[in-house]
Amino acid sequence: MSVQQTFDAWAEAGRERGMEKRHWHTAKHALARMPVEPGDRVLDLGCGSGYALRALRETRTTGLSVGLDGSPEMARSAQEYTDDDLVQFLEGDFHHLPLDTDSVDHVWSMEALYYSPSPVRVVEELRRILRPGGTFFCAVNFFEESQHTHRWQEKLDVEMTLLSRSDYRETFADGGLHVAEQDTIPDEETEIPPEEEFPTDRWETREAMLDRYRTWGTLLTVGVAP
Ligand SMILES: C[S@@+](CC[C@H](N)C(=O)[O-])C[C@H]1O[C@@H](n2cnc3c(N)ncnc32)[C@H](O)[C@@H]1O
Repeated sequence: MSVQQTFDAWAEAGRERGMEKRHWHTAKHALARMPVEPGDRVLDLGCGSGYALRALRETRTTGLSVGLDGSPEMARSAQEYTDDDLVQFLEGDFHHLPLDTDSVDHVWSMEALYYSPSPVRVVEELRRILRPGGTFFCAVNFFEESQHTHRWQEKLDVEMTLLSRSDYRETFADGGLHVAEQDTIPDEETEIPPEEEFPTDRWETREAMLDRYRTWGTLLTVGVAP
């Protein structure tokens, strides 16, 4: 199955709202750190349900912003969740962004970059479309140090690129962005049952669940365009 077919099927089954709910636990903390000013143009790369642009529009009065997704069904359902003309959702590919050079103030992406077989090519594209001083906020839950996320690859019929924290920094630098910050944001909201309830349907041990959510959570890497 291609990435497009996989996420079209997810959107058709209404799974984008479940993703939004889970990702929001940490996404809201990362979004709050973005230096977005009123009127700024933001790109959401691999937008899913489009929650990030809706939130930024509401809290920061962003300007005309674009959510891009390789799944036409995802882009269509994201568009259905808003009637705000300043938030637009498009089908498109990370590696060939339909945006002009130096035309975007900031880029957000959650749980998406690792679907690229060549994240450095994506970062190069972002470097092209970002204005000097613009930022790329890249949030991922699937990364080398968070070992209990690695099994996701077995469950998905699409290739994922597993990178470590230092790989992300290197990828940003190789793609032409300065690395301004890297941090992990723990997920404090996912409920972790008491010891006696393990194993659960999804988790062998409480320790594994604590490692996934409380120790690692989301890896945030922030790049700045020179
Ligand atoms: C796991 S979902 C995350 C969605 C959303 N960012 C969130 O936080 O809920 C990853 C999204 O990236 C999109 N995607 C993956 N590879 C892509 C590519 N090469 N170009 C555009 N979108 C892509 C998928 O279609 C999917 O909607």
